[in-house]
Amino acid sequence: RFSSNVYSCFVMAPHAVILRNMEASLTARDRVGIQDFVLLDAYTSESAFLDNLRKRFHENLIYTYIGTLLVSVNPYKELDIYSKKQMDTYMGVNFFELPPHIYALADNVFRTMLTEFNNHFILISGESGAGKTEASKKILQFYAVSCPSTKLLNNVRDRLLLSNPVLEAFGNAKTLKNDNSSRFGKYMDIQFDHQGGAVGGHILSYLLEKSRVVHQNHGERNFHIFYQLVEGGEDELLRWLGLQRNCQLYSYLVQGDCAKVSSVNDKSDWRTVQKALSVVDFSENDIEHLFGIIASVLHLGNVKFGADPRGYAILNNNPEMHWLSKGCTDTLANNQYKLRSALESDLFTPFTVDHAVYARDALAKAIYGRTFNWLVNKINESLANKDSSRKTVIGLLDIYGFEVFHVNSFEQFCINYCNEKLQQLFIQLTLKSEQEEYEMEGIEWEPVPYFNNKIICDLVEEKHRGIISVLDEECLRPGEATDLTFLEKMEEKMGGHPHFVTHKLADQKTRKTLERGDFRLLHYAGEVTYCVVGFLDKNNDLLYRNVKEVSVMRQSKNSIIKHCFPSTEPDSKKRPETVVTQFKSSLVGLTEILMSKEPWYVRCIKPNEGKQPGRFDDVLVRHQVKYLGLMEHLRVRRAGFAYRRRYEIFLQRYKPLCPDTWPNWKGTAAEGVQRLIKHLGYKPNEYKMGRTKIFIRHPRTLFATEDAFEVCKHELGGSCSEHLAVIETCWRGLMARKERERRAWAVKVIKKFIKGFMTRNQPACVDNSEYLAFVRQNYLSRLKDNLPKTLLDKNNWLTPPPIMQETSGVLGVGKKSKLIYLYNLQLKLLTSSMFKGKKENYPFSVCRPFLDTRISEDDINVKVLQMIQHERIKYSVPVVKYDRNGFRPRLRQLIFTQAAAYLVEEAKIKQRIDYSSLKGVSVSNLSDNFLILHVTCDDIKQKGDLVLQCDYLFEALTKLSLVTSKQSCIKVVQGSVRFDIQPGREGFVDFKSGQESMVYRAKNGHLMVVSMEFKKYVHFSWQFQ
Ligand SMILES: Nc1ncnc2c1ncn2[C@@H]1O[C@H](COP(=O)(O)OP(=O)(O)OP(=O)(O)O)[C@@H](O)[C@H]1O
Ligand SMILES: [Mg+2]
Repeated sequence: RFSSNVYSCFVMAPHAVILRNMEASLTARDRVGIQDFVLLDAYTSESAFLDNLRKRFHENLIYTYIGTLLVSVNPYKELDIYSKKQMDTYMGVNFFELPPHIYALADNVFRTMLTEFNNHFILISGESGAGKTEASKKILQFYAVSCPSTKLLNNVRDRLLLSNPVLEAFGNAKTLKNDNSSRFGKYMDIQFDHQGGAVGGHILSYLLEKSRVVHQNHGERNFHIFYQLVEGGEDELLRWLGLQRNCQLYSYLVQGDCAKVSSVNDKSDWRTVQKALSVVDFSENDIEHLFGIIASVLHLGNVKFGADPRGYAILNNNPEMHWLSKGCTDTLANNQYKLRSALESDLFTPFTVDHAVYARDALAKAIYGRTFNWLVNKINESLANKDSSRKTVIGLLDIYGFEVFHVNSFEQFCINYCNEKLQQLFIQLTLKSEQEEYEMEGIEWEPVPYFNNKIICDLVEEKHRGIISVLDEECLRPGEATDLTFLEKMEEKMGGHPHFVTHKLADQKTRKTLERGDFRLLHYAGEVTYCVVGFLDKNNDLLYRNVKEVSVMRQSKNSIIKHCFPSTEPDSKKRPETVVTQFKSSLVGLTEILMSKEPWYVRCIKPNEGKQPGRFDDVLVRHQVKYLGLMEHLRVRRAGFAYRRRYEIFLQRYKPLCPDTWPNWKGTAAEGVQRLIKHLGYKPNEYKMGRTKIFIRHPRTLFATEDAFEVCKHELGGSCSEHLAVIETCWRGLMARKERERRAWAVKVIKKFIKGFMTRNQPACVDNSEYLAFVRQNYLSRLKDNLPKTLLDKNNWLTPPPIMQETSGVLGVGKKSKLIYLYNLQLKLLTSSMFKGKKENYPFSVCRPFLDTRISEDDINVKVLQMIQHERIKYSVPVVKYDRNGFRPRLRQLIFTQAAAYLVEEAKIKQRIDYSSLKGVSVSNLSDNFLILHVTCDDIKQKGDLVLQCDYLFEALTKLSLVTSKQSCIKVVQGSVRFDIQPGREGFVDFKSGQESMVYRAKNGHLMVVSMEFKKYVHFSWQFQ
């Protein structure tokens, strides 16, 4: 479709190297698949999606993007992609310049946070064993290495890193799906100061799977810590806790019949946890009490009940009772009789044996669950940052993905509800950001066809009508409520809902797939059938039925147990919230936390059920692609346009494809792109022109352009040699003519110099003016490099030429002020080298002495001082800042520290410009006092360039060039200055001279700065001075 014209030559521009990297994904697409799914032409096809994922997986390319979302496939083998060298490679590099990587995402989040001063979160989801926890650890490790470090910060960093093994020991377990499965949801905030140092953290945990303490399915284990203690605990510790080094002896450890796992080393993990506990600030007392509890839970599991003649439970001579009550720290009670009684009966009725076992297990679960919460709080105390200065945050959410088992129960219901909520959040946030970009680019918003799962969220959580309300009602109402009455109530209320079905409500065909006690929800990710059995019990916290147990716990001497069972706890009349309602509230809290932050996503995929490297199970992956909502995500990203690029970048790459744009396009980049795509024959519905970017709807359009570009490159290469000779001849001629002009100019200069030398002692005249100026400047500049270092160093003063004698004398006057003069002189020389002969009003600044600063620290707001003082303030000056939109003038303070320039309004820092991101400073050649600070900004949310007016322009710019050592970045320009209002939006300041100074917004939207004509300005300035 594209004409592959051959033009006279093809030379790759130097910055094409960068483009080549940026667009690497386009050229490499056949070999390693597409590294961004957004460029997949058949974006609605699951098979195409899968093909790409598989292709990359077999090349060990486990990461692929969907825009800025990262898809990660668990390789189940160590890849050499997480080294320090890799981290360095990804640090500070543009997102699309290197192959997809979790470090690229982590780095991008970090840098966006620093430049925009806002909060972010990374949501990591995927099914059990897909690699969520590993991904979150990789991100944490990346920050640990890439963030600025000091001794103090290293301390925080170690705590953040070591909180992981502690939480994993207590919250992870071997399951059938994963040998180190997290059995709780985790949200971790990492707090950064404004320089990017990690200064603190906070962890929230969600819904620990407590039932695992008392029961494990075949092939699964209890939480790691139990095995670590039994296997790794020192002999003396075990003796003290009444434990033996044999997991088989503990009923709570052997239900899954797999206490030993080859991939887990309990002994060495025990040592890691011990070390971590001490780093995370656990006292010896805490550690002693903590393991007292773990041991007690094991003993509790071994408590056995007999039956008296009436069938009631009685505790026989259980040796465990000794360790539970009289044990090392009186962990569960200090009175054996009371504990016995609590395990055998509640306030009024004795238990049957079954009931007693049930109560025992409920107690074990409650103790472990509450201890886990205590542990999280304790870690939080150690991670807390007490400094009240403003911090920015990156949150890591490692949360359970959608779960579909053969039999799904209350836990899966909660987990899947959580995923519905997160999908809702994702839809809201993604659509919002797409819409914002369209608006910014002036492109009409097109409705996106996607499935909104709000209807399912409502089905579950709606007040008085949702499943949670019905469940709670059944749990709390008097009378005989059972799991089946709960099912019936649901059928009454939800009958007819398109996403809800039960055996009774189903049509004949569906009915065959449902048991009588089942209900099925049509989640956004697919159908899940839940077995209603156990819903009521699990939703009730059974422990509260047995007030006696709780009151015994309160009397414990174990400080953790005491803390976990406070005496202020509501009694049985005031029931605490049910489990599902607590979970719902915690999700509402989580949604609020996340909504206030910028989202990033990592979706993890498990390639096979066997934990094997190199095996890609299509059915399994297809299923996950579906329920992780990846196709939905892609559809939302692709709903509008697959590809978007700034006009300059697009034109730079593809301009050889059109004779009008090759080799150089004289007009604006947008016009160039318009011409180019017209030549290429883009159809109107295939693209849209935004304010700063071209939007291309289908990848095939882009790929066709790219293919034409490849062909063009080769053809140009082939025909080049023929043209080279012609070009060479022309080039040589041009060079020769230039050389001739240069020589003629040199002769003129030398003649003038000689004439100047001969007339140097005459009064100033046309013949010697330039020569004398040269002598003056030469002397001052040599003086600058040879100044005496101390006040006493009198003899080293450079001998002046006759015309500089007076100046030299003035500089030499006054012993004390001499160095100050010298310093001032140095600064003045610097100013001269930057502005002399370039800016009209420079000569009038020469006689105005420079001061150390124009704003004393007393006049800077204390809050601002507190925030930036540690960077050492070098210079401050009042400025007028012109708003980027509308150009309204505002009075501000401009402060230069060692590290950054700050624009300050009272107590607020309006903008921080790190010197590393200061691209340049523009001033006009006229007599105005405007300066424009150009900053690097890759992101639309970042603030753009600053347009300022400063009465002490020369002084301020000299100080700036001194503190940044970037003298060369100050440019004197004529006519007009282009600046970035924000990335992707440009503005202009036009300079001209007129009868009087004026600043106003011109009709064309530019800021017009009129400065006084030079002659008038000279007159005015001398009068003024
Ligand atoms: N990037 C990776 N490189 C090598 N191995 C990995 C990687 N990611 C995961 N794995 C392997 O997969 C196992 C399971 O990963 P992980 O514990 O992170 O899963 P998860 O998604 O957190 O599961 P769960 O929901 O059960 O907690 C790890 O123990 C590790 O062996
Ligand atoms: Mg995990």
